[in-house]
Amino acid sequence: DTSRPSLVDMKGIPMIKYFAEGTRLLQDFQARDDDLLVSTYPKSGTTWVSEILDIIYQGGDLEKCRRAPIYMRVPFLEFTSPGVPSGREALESAEPPRLLKTHLPLALLPQSLLDQKVKVIYIARNAKDVAVSYYHFYLMAKVHPDPGTWDSFLEKFMDGKVSYGSWYQHVREWWELRHTRPVLYLFYEDMKENPKREIRKILDFLGRSVPEETIDLIVQHTTFKEMKKNPMTNYTTIPSHHMDHSVSPFMRKGITGDWKNTFTEAQNKRFDAHYADKMAGCDLTFRYQI
Ligand code: PPS
Repeated sequence: DTSRPSLVDMKGIPMIKYFAEGTRLLQDFQARDDDLLVSTYPKSGTTWVSEILDIIYQGGDLEKCRRAPIYMRVPFLEFTSPGVPSGREALESAEPPRLLKTHLPLALLPQSLLDQKVKVIYIARNAKDVAVSYYHFYLMAKVHPDPGTWDSFLEKFMDGKVSYGSWYQHVREWWELRHTRPVLYLFYEDMKENPKREIRKILDFLGRSVPEETIDLIVQHTTFKEMKKNPMTNYTTIPSHHMDHSVSPFMRKGITGDWKNTFTEAQNKRFDAHYADKMAGCDLTFRYQI
């Protein structure tokens, strides 16, 4: 597909051109002490946790959570697109306490977010499911380059030659950050296994408490099935020339272990060997099926 853009390099990180511009706009971004940053490598559960957080921030009022699409309720820090307010502009008009979303690796993150010791909720998802989800996202979200075949995309993913760079580097550096910053590090697989337990972790981390019924309400409202049919969370409000849900919906499968339907045995073997090398010396472990 010749109409697809290429990635640009920013401090060694391959980036979508518009998001590289958006990152440049953030050089003097001023964080607030009460900001809460939702950070992820793409396709790891960002939208899911964003919706959970907005419900908490709105005191369990689901009507209020229908006020706007998720990308407006939790502005995307490095976002720019012609004719639409940038992430930075959206944040400047947001009422504090603000929720912010980013996929930036630490090398590109505005310093002020680290200086202010802003609370971070990081969500990680196993690399194999991320690669599969990312491949389908490349196909449907046309700001990305053409992914090519699954096999060639997987090679690029392993090489860190996809938008936002290396998954390995990303999950590792944010994992290390929790030694020096208030980071709650969550796993997509844990949320699938027991969402209630993970929501409680979030509430503890935020120092908030809500009635038990509200926790149940959050669990029910943020299942994959509910979020897939909710226009305020399923990204169908984005024009189809940007995101083509007929190619692959944003809310695609929402499961753990879909990689098994996609990886060949040879790809899996190669991936495991490469993975062991890239993750050597790191005490971060992932589950591949729940
Ligand atoms: S993005 O574009 O990076 O912000 O995408 P992100 O939201 O991080 O990840 C999208 C994947 O998360 C799945 N998803 C969910 N899974 C389970 N439960 C809920 N509620 C949920 N909401 C989103 C979504 O389907 C994408 O994963 P795949 O594997 O492609 O289905």
